[in-house]
Amino acid sequence: MNLEENILRRLIESPERLSGELLAKELKVSRVAIWKSIKKLKEKGYPIDTAKRGYFLENKDILLKEDLRSLISKSKLFTEVVHLWETPSTMEVAKALAEAGQRAIVIAERQTKGRGRMNRDWDSPQGGIWLTFVLLEPFPLKRSFLLTYLASVATAKAIIDVTKLAAKVKWPNDVLVAGKKVAGILLEIKAEVDALVYALVGIGINVNNPVEGKPYLLPASSLRELTGELITRKNLLERLISCFEDSFFNLERLLEEWRDLSETLGKEVKIKTFQEEIVGYALDLSPDGALLVKTKEGHIKNVFSGDCIHLR
Ligand code: BTN
Repeated sequence: MNLEENILRRLIESPERLSGELLAKELKVSRVAIWKSIKKLKEKGYPIDTAKRGYFLENKDILLKEDLRSLISKSKLFTEVVHLWETPSTMEVAKALAEAGQRAIVIAERQTKGRGRMNRDWDSPQGGIWLTFVLLEPFPLKRSFLLTYLASVATAKAIIDVTKLAAKVKWPNDVLVAGKKVAGILLEIKAEVDALVYALVGIGINVNNPVEGKPYLLPASSLRELTGELITRKNLLERLISCFEDSFFNLERLLEEWRDLSETLGKEVKIKTFQEEIVGYALDLSPDGALLVKTKEGHIKNVFSGDCIHLR
């Protein structure tokens, strides 16, 4: 651990303000070295209060490199975590790593050009979880649709475990709590004839960040807003990685898990695809991943992608 990480760890652990003198003594460096590191940390955006004598970190929801590394120490899918303070989008960083053959998880504190499905903007201020999983496992192209379901199921399960909120999945790629969107999934793949070369699974979760902006299709919220508490992102990340891996190695159970968590099945829905608008009753998921919608004329439509609104 370098000095900046050591200082952060001490500030996270301490319920009280810590003086430069004490930090210097504990970490066996000069007070000037402490002062310089604190300055660098503040420049990076860590909200360290230096107003009175000594240093204090009120918001202790900080991701430390060492903690992140330990999150993947037992992982079968990932060998490294890349943690960035700010980046346009974790999808771009992940793509470069995937091309270089690195099984990485890319996490950013802030994204300046975060994107959602259909190239929509995805607001990504500090406090959320903005990450992309780089998957290099062999995977048949015609089953790649499973990865979006996998990511939404894992995200919903992690939210339920950590916050006890009743998270649900909404077709095709959202996670909701109390009818509000708290997370979204973005899947990008590179494929050869019938197999994936890699998949980039982007997950955005509104955790402690403010949620602003015009709602698109449905209102959004954050886990902090819904629980009234600051959520420790490290715990949520830990559960997310472990739920993701569990589901990845148990794909035969995945569609059943999605059905169990579904907010869409059994509802009247309106779905806009590139070709048409479909209104009907969301019956089920087919084994090949389509949403089966029964129209009022009694036709069953297999819908593979589109924007979905729950009507009733
Ligand atoms: C959606 O609901 O439309 C999908 C949102 C996906 C957002 C995540 S945040 C991490 C990753 N990087 C991005 O730019 N987008 C995804």
